[in-house]
Amino acid sequence: MEITINPKYPSVTDLRNRAMVKMPKFAFEYLDGGCNEDINLDKNRTDLQKVELMPYYLSKFDKSDTRTELFGHTYDAPFGIAPVGLQGLMWPNSPEILAKAAFAHNIPFILSTVTTSSIERIAEITEGNSWFQLYHPADEKIKRDLLDRAASAGTNVLVILADVPTFGFRPRDIRNGLAMPPKMSLKNILEVFTKPDWAIQTLIHGKPAFKTMEPYMPKDLNMAKLGELMDVTFSGRLNTDRIASIREQWKGKLVIKGVVSEEDAEKAIALGVDGLIVSNHGGRQLDAGQSSIVPMTHLAEKFKNQIKIMMDSGLRGGPDIARAMASGAEFTFMGRSFMYGVGALGKEGGNHTISLMKREFQQVMEQVCCEKVEDLPRFLVK
Ligand SMILES: Cc1cc2nc3c(=O)[nH]c(=O)nc-3n(C[C@H](O)[C@H](O)[C@H](O)COP(=O)(O)O)c2cc1C
Repeated sequence: MEITINPKYPSVTDLRNRAMVKMPKFAFEYLDGGCNEDINLDKNRTDLQKVELMPYYLSKFDKSDTRTELFGHTYDAPFGIAPVGLQGLMWPNSPEILAKAAFAHNIPFILSTVTTSSIERIAEITEGNSWFQLYHPADEKIKRDLLDRAASAGTNVLVILADVPTFGFRPRDIRNGLAMPPKMSLKNILEVFTKPDWAIQTLIHGKPAFKTMEPYMPKDLNMAKLGELMDVTFSGRLNTDRIASIREQWKGKLVIKGVVSEEDAEKAIALGVDGLIVSNHGGRQLDAGQSSIVPMTHLAEKFKNQIKIMMDSGLRGGPDIARAMASGAEFTFMGRSFMYGVGALGKEGGNHTISLMKREFQQVMEQVCCEKVEDLPRFLVK
């Protein structure tokens, strides 16, 4: 896919600023915020920014190749789109916009269980090349059915989420009356009238709904009851028995997202998991936790030859992807950056933001004189 960048928005900061104007306040704040006092959200950025690369200008250099092999597939670049819930609320049709762009650019798109498109629809768009993130449902039957559906749709990789044993404490969402699913308070409804593009797109694409979960929900559920049902459905805390049972049923690649401790990583390896996405959920769950780059660097050093170590949380561009890869990650993901892109530019947002990341990452590789992605650790300033 050709790289196309809208020259008005050459950075994620530009996209974020534009998205803030285009999206209703409650939706933007749901996307943008961390939890509690946003300490972990900020630490993800500041710790990542401390990572430095050393260029070697006089070394032998031909050209930089950003292609990266992961789980038997060669992607165009070492980054993908992280799973994000409720995407259609933030920008109408955004899971499909992002899945289409990811497929065209040959990077992975991870579908969240609680977003607004279905496993089947995303499989159609990506010709069976998407990844699926499972929120562990309390009900065994629903879990089995979701896994069967993911397998029949040809899902490449199953990601199970470890880091939401309880919902994060998010002051902005509390202030905005944003629950799961969102309550439409008068304040929020009035806010929508000031965002005409968002409102028109919502009319075109319809009220956002939890498409993957629809088969398990009674018809015509009112919003309050839907909220209760989702709370009960996802009260299933992850544990080693649950991972073992999924490992038995799921024949494809299995990844756990949100593991940050050595102890959990060892358990995951013993259970036959294929990869970890070291993540703190973009700083949305444990404000007193570490930034993501710190445990990732440690886990990569310790376990890289036993399991694929990937990371997300706090990455906002090509230099950050290079920082993470130089610190030992074998692949990276981003959540907010892509949603800012769609919030800012609507259906052009997916292509624009992926193009931006590809161009920026390529520039860093060329600048430090790195030919292959797997050589990036050589450029880390220790
Ligand atoms: C608005 C929002 C919703 C999210 N929903 C989910 C989700 O449903 N499932 C999931 O595994 N992670 C979810 N995440 C976490 C992302 O997958 C990812 O870990 C995080 O966004 C990475 O940090 P970054 O936004 O700084 O790139 C969500 C993140 C955001 C910002």
